Amino acid sequence: MPRHPSPEDNFSFGLWTVGWNGADPFGAATRPTLAPWDYVDGLAQLGASAISFHDNDIYPFGADEDVQRRRVGRLKDAADRAGLRIEMVTTNTFTHPVFKDGGLCANDRAVRRFALRKILNAVDLAGQVDAGTFVMWGGREGSEYDGSKDVYAALERYKEGIDTVAAYIKAQEYDLRIALEPKPNEPRGDILLPTVGHALALIAELDHAEIVGVNPETGHEQMAGLNYTHAIAQALWSGKLFHIDLNGQRGTKYDQDLVFGHGDLMSAFFTVDLLENGFPGYPDGPRYTGAQHFDYKPSRTEHMPGVWESARANMSTYLMLAEKARAFRADARVQEAMTGAGVFDLAQPTLGDGESIMAFAAGNDPSFSPDTAALRDYGFVRLQQLAVEHLIG
Ligand code: GCO
Ligand code: MN
Ligand code: MN
Repeated sequence: MPRHPSPEDNFSFGLWTVGWNGADPFGAATRPTLAPWDYVDGLAQLGASAISFHDNDIYPFGADEDVQRRRVGRLKDAADRAGLRIEMVTTNTFTHPVFKDGGLCANDRAVRRFALRKILNAVDLAGQVDAGTFVMWGGREGSEYDGSKDVYAALERYKEGIDTVAAYIKAQEYDLRIALEPKPNEPRGDILLPTVGHALALIAELDHAEIVGVNPETGHEQMAGLNYTHAIAQALWSGKLFHIDLNGQRGTKYDQDLVFGHGDLMSAFFTVDLLENGFPGYPDGPRYTGAQHFDYKPSRTEHMPGVWESARANMSTYLMLAEKARAFRADARVQEAMTGAGVFDLAQPTLGDGESIMAFAAGNDPSFSPDTAALRDYGFVRLQQLAVEHLIG
């Protein structure tokens, strides 16, 4: 049994996770829908430190300012009483039919202006509750048919929208950073910014890039057949890992939003290894310092006991993997295998300090034989089996 989570573990849950009542495109709700503040005590008792939410998790679409303020105030009071921070706020620009062709990238300009105002309103909400991160998931920004979207124009509008949100954050002097959440598809046939790589490329073109990073979700990279640990590694390398959505996914299919570790467990092990232990060759390299945020769905077969059981499972799986990953790195056999595999050698620059490029290009290394180098046995399989041994041995 893993230990009870502590505040240093910094676990956080979207209110829409435990709050999902099980309604999906094929079936009705299988559980009651409680008020947002009714989930707060349960999460705190399980050991969570923080929560996050969409604007419309707290008040209905179209609610007037008075209703918004009262309901957000009630949630904030409940969170304060339970000792939970509100670490992230996001906007729902996907549920209402007005967003059926997107928000910031909708073909209809009036819809774009409406969506942008709704997002700015949620930024004020984030400021009001002292959230440090504002997530932007463009679930409806995309298309089903290639002829229906001018992708150049859509990216222009996406950039314009994100830069406007960032400029507004600065103008209001909020202590807030934006985190873009990639997803390849669902609910659109194809979603813009389908992967972490696409999002990082767009961020590089922004006017206010310094306050914009990414919020990679485990399952979303895996839906595209990609490696989640590599995705967060590249985001860290770029200084852009502002937030994370941990969950589980099995293969390239619909977005399963399983409990963390209930999909690809080996991948989850290396995700936690990176988050907890950092890059092997760079002890002082970049580290993720934000909340360990879970964005999962308690399966609709579960009723309320299963909801709480699944919330607990995310944290205990993370803690068990953290323990295993620490033991893995501390194991002398692992260190030896990593050394033998050349893992630490990769941190050494390929050119010498101050080495002339011209001399390098013109020269050759008589002591190096490609045929001899080709005989090297890297021992990667043994290293991987040591990981398996730590994981299940
Ligand atoms: C998904 C998405 C969403 C977003 C959330 C934040 O599973 O399709 O992850 O859950 O993270 O809506 O805007
Ligand atoms: Mn998801
Ligand atoms: Mn998510």
